[in-house]
Amino acid sequence: MNNNQLKIGIIGFGTVGQSLYEVLQKSPSTKAAIHTVVAKNPNKQRSIVPENLKFNASEIINSNEIDTVVELIDDDKEALKLVKTALYNGKNVVSGNKKMIAENLEEIIRMQQDTGQSILYDASACGSIPVIRNLEEYYDNDLLQNITGILNGSSNYILTQMYAHHKTYEDALAEAQENGFAESNPTFDVDGYDAMYKLIILTLHGFGTIVKPENVFYTGISGISGNDISFAREKGLKIKLIAHACKVPGNKVALFVMPAFVEPENYLYNVDDEFNGVIIEGEAYDKQLMFGKGAGGHPTGSAVLSDISALSHQYKYEYKKLHLPNPPEVSEDVMLKMYFRYQKPETIDILPLQTIEEQHIGPQYHYTVGTVKLADLLINSDNLRKFVSFMALRRISNESIFTHYQNKNYYRQSLAPVNAHLIL
Ligand code: HSE
Repeated sequence: MNNNQLKIGIIGFGTVGQSLYEVLQKSPSTKAAIHTVVAKNPNKQRSIVPENLKFNASEIINSNEIDTVVELIDDDKEALKLVKTALYNGKNVVSGNKKMIAENLEEIIRMQQDTGQSILYDASACGSIPVIRNLEEYYDNDLLQNITGILNGSSNYILTQMYAHHKTYEDALAEAQENGFAESNPTFDVDGYDAMYKLIILTLHGFGTIVKPENVFYTGISGISGNDISFAREKGLKIKLIAHACKVPGNKVALFVMPAFVEPENYLYNVDDEFNGVIIEGEAYDKQLMFGKGAGGHPTGSAVLSDISALSHQYKYEYKKLHLPNPPEVSEDVMLKMYFRYQKPETIDILPLQTIEEQHIGPQYHYTVGTVKLADLLINSDNLRKFVSFMALRRISNESIFTHYQNKNYYRQSLAPVNAHLIL
């Protein structure tokens, strides 16, 4: 082993771990060599069996020879313990575990400060798209206004297969699992958790704001039906699971994850299948789209490879926005135009509507379109999840929120609190 090379221990040898193993062979110029691989199950049949395959993570995190730990396991609690021990044992870390990172941002930052070691996690958000490092390095100024993305490849795959190929939800989900896009527990994908964790990470690097998962409204696509697809199709729209974080007046940032009806003019309209797309919008430069494969072994493995390579150049996240004098605080004080579909007519009574713009009452199902405050969605999220079959943003636009607020007629001063701004 060359002395300049990183000596890597890979913990977790599932889809991404095996793909990393393969892509590393295709990149001989990366200054890294795999020293040990640790997998969970000794009895599992594998297509790749590394010669240095072991089954106890301690052989990596406590090894004197390994300097770089690549953590690719599912269990976020166990992952945090491993990462902590590795950092305090003087090792750098690469992780793809968005839940572990998003739930422990303060600790992740503190451990790096304490140890002087680095943990990189570009693989945790949007697979092969280098969005975190770009937010950190290129968009390291005050101009950034909005991040709007399709961050979950599995949901996007399912929505595309249902819309374009008339497949059932169940068949499309099974295919997402077979293709290695979905998490081991696909609820994580289809109910919005995965995109929510990724959004929290992007919000930190984009705006410098640390947000707790319990303060983010999220809902996914698991309740979708042919009725919702027909509603979209009739209007020439597509349904996409959108994660959105935007600056709002008063140095605040608002964020949420939910399905949205997307117009053909929107950059995300043609982001289909397992692809991810992130629109970055700022003052002066308007909108930019980052597009690429957001799920699957090789795209995510290549993101891990890129983080390993960055470590070989002593790269660390500086959390530049976090260290600005005045990072924005979280706000739920924004208005959204929403579509709610439900079975029982009385469900309308629990919808926190400020206005009603359209209603359908039919023998099979009902829907209402109207405006709601994000804060009311968050407060009522348990009831909404229980009684509403499917909810989505009725309208999504990439125009500046200020343009919306000043020029559009959706904001109803008489119904909404005076400081609420309609953003979408
Ligand atoms: N299950 C995730 C997705 C994998 O579908 O996007 C990448 O994080």
